[in-house]
Amino acid sequence: MSSLSLQNVSLNYALSGTGGGADDVLRNINLSLDEREFVVVIGRSGSGKTSLLNLAAGFLNPSRGAISVDGVPITGPGRDRAVVFQDDALYPWLNARDNIGFPLKLRHVPKAARDLRAEELLNLVGLSGAGDKKIWELSGGMRQRVGIARALASDPKFLLMDEPLGALDALTRSRMQSFLLNVWQATSTGVLLITHSIDEALFLATRVIVLEPNPGRVAADLRLDFGGRHLAGEEAAAIRGSAEFKSAYEGLTLAIHTETAEFAA
Ligand SMILES: Nc1ncnc2c1ncn2[C@@H]1O[C@H](COP(=O)(O)OP(=O)(O)OP(=O)(O)O)[C@@H](O)[C@H]1O
Ligand SMILES: [Mg+2]
Repeated sequence: MSSLSLQNVSLNYALSGTGGGADDVLRNINLSLDEREFVVVIGRSGSGKTSLLNLAAGFLNPSRGAISVDGVPITGPGRDRAVVFQDDALYPWLNARDNIGFPLKLRHVPKAARDLRAEELLNLVGLSGAGDKKIWELSGGMRQRVGIARALASDPKFLLMDEPLGALDALTRSRMQSFLLNVWQATSTGVLLITHSIDEALFLATRVIVLEPNPGRVAADLRLDFGGRHLAGEEAAAIRGSAEFKSAYEGLTLAIHTETAEFAA
């Protein structure tokens, strides 16, 4: 089983050469993401969530510490790690099928094989028969599903998502949460998902990492199984209404909003 691991990782944008203040944005982050895990990172705005994802994706290099997949240091973005952002960024001149097949086209996979894989993925994301649709013919939720299908086209080991459901209305968002759990179950992908939503973090995660700001550090690391219960057939509403969920909600709210003594003064 593959594992993406951050060891004692710190990030300082002034040192990374991309500009920014002299303070560490992330400090001494230790985190490992195994295939089959669904890790959700939550924390206040500016706590370094997107920076963390960009490090894991290989878009940024850590200022200190190491990031590796199965013990091999990463040197940049790679096919083993696919990224999905909040804005779908699909190619509007291509239909859904060709958007999904695009990463394979870059690897010179023949058209027939690309189309076959795209059809499989359209089925997986619940868009069978929508391959010929233009991007502007799809709803926001459908676009995001095409974006996720495109990310899965190269069979990544890890799927890294930065607030992928943030732009969706509440009803579509809750449907998409079930959808994400199903996709995660159907593939053997390790998921790292960033959200602002406490409810979403609890509902999806096998592990929730709470980041505390200034500098971004892991303030809590919780193991959960509400997503597993949903996949086993329990209704989302029943899970959310349960005493365990409510108590986990209170606990996570507290973990996010409590300043440590060091910074409370
Ligand atoms: N490219 C950059 N160059 C310099 N500083 C940056 C850069 N990107 C982010 N920062 C700074 O790093 C800190 C963390 O930002 P980051 O975007 O990682 O936070 P976040 O937790 O994702 O916030 P949000 O919830 O608002 O998306 C902030 O202080 C931000 O100003
Ligand atoms: Mg962010």
